Amino acid sequence: SAAEKGGYEYFMLKEIVEQPRAVADTLLGRVGVEGTLTLDEMRLSAHDLRDISKIVIIACGTSYHAGLIAKYSIEHWCRIPCEVEVASEFRYRDPILDRQTLVIAISQSGESMDTLMAVRYAREQRARVLAICNVNGSTIPRESDGVLYTHAGPEVGVAATKTFLTQLIACYLVGLYLAQVRNQKFGDEINAVIEQLAKMPEQVQQVLDTVEPVRTLARSLKDAKTVLFLGRHVGYPVAMEGALKLKELAYMHAEAFAAGELKHGSIALIEDGVPVVIVVPSREGRGVLHDKILSNIQEIRARGARTIVIAEKGDDAVRPFADELIEIPAVPTLLQPLVSTVPMQVFACELALAKGNDVDQPRNLAKSVTVE
Ligand code: G6P
Repeated sequence: SAAEKGGYEYFMLKEIVEQPRAVADTLLGRVGVEGTLTLDEMRLSAHDLRDISKIVIIACGTSYHAGLIAKYSIEHWCRIPCEVEVASEFRYRDPILDRQTLVIAISQSGESMDTLMAVRYAREQRARVLAICNVNGSTIPRESDGVLYTHAGPEVGVAATKTFLTQLIACYLVGLYLAQVRNQKFGDEINAVIEQLAKMPEQVQQVLDTVEPVRTLARSLKDAKTVLFLGRHVGYPVAMEGALKLKELAYMHAEAFAAGELKHGSIALIEDGVPVVIVVPSREGRGVLHDKILSNIQEIRARGARTIVIAEKGDDAVRPFADELIEIPAVPTLLQPLVSTVPMQVFACELALAKGNDVDQPRNLAKSVTVE
């Protein structure tokens, strides 16, 4: 009913605007005074977590993209090797797991059969399994050793939005917590990130407040044959999520590339007028990546691409190469996906609506897939 949709025509539109609150709720009660994280609810003891020598993240769809982003932060903060794999591939390749392996299963619904089967397999191999999940008491957390719930509230739209942002928050919390209990040498940085996290609901709100031009842009691209997405570092999985959203909702061909890999083949796809969405890394701490992507943008623009650039407010260096500029707040590199994903969601949703598609119930898709 209209009331359930909070006055919006589709749940997806409502769920996109609920993101600042979902992010705040997922942080609530977990960040204590002076930046100490309280995650005892995970049921994994600090003692167990100190022993971990490897992390393997398994998930499907959008949850897999959250896992890809988690890898960058966990490896950087904790110095623990971290692999990420789609759940449907995991157990079929004879993965190497032991008691010192922490498997993190990310699943919004807690019911995806591919992920559940991977969890069962991991536990048979004696790995410890931590679930990151949005649905209380669902199967995956029940079958895991521990769980950290995302507090996004129920998500009805088939394409994940607010649960993705809260999965990112949960992954950051796990990474920061691991770094704390393992006394990593990045103490100051860890504390600074924890402070930054508290500001993220506000930053996500800022994106929503300024996102209107993205809708106009999306409508103008309704007849495009393809949209390409480029990113580097954490911007690469964000680009993958942007492409997935467009496929799911607008039934359009879309593909993401690591910007640096483009020249090794895919640049042949660039021709006059092809829209390319580029996620520009934060300037903070990653100046090299920022400059590298600038030359990637120049390369594709010289070959005719229509460049749609998502960059930090005040990033004047990108302006001359952006046919369309989408500004997001400046936040630390590792947290940028929380703000850079939002315009992508709005873009895909609006383009799909322009095509007359039902964004809550896209064709051929299910909210949770309970077959392998
Ligand atoms: C389905 C949904 C996707 C979702 C994926 C994983 O394919 O359509 O939106 O990302 O399942 O779901 P999960 O509940 O395990 O996160």
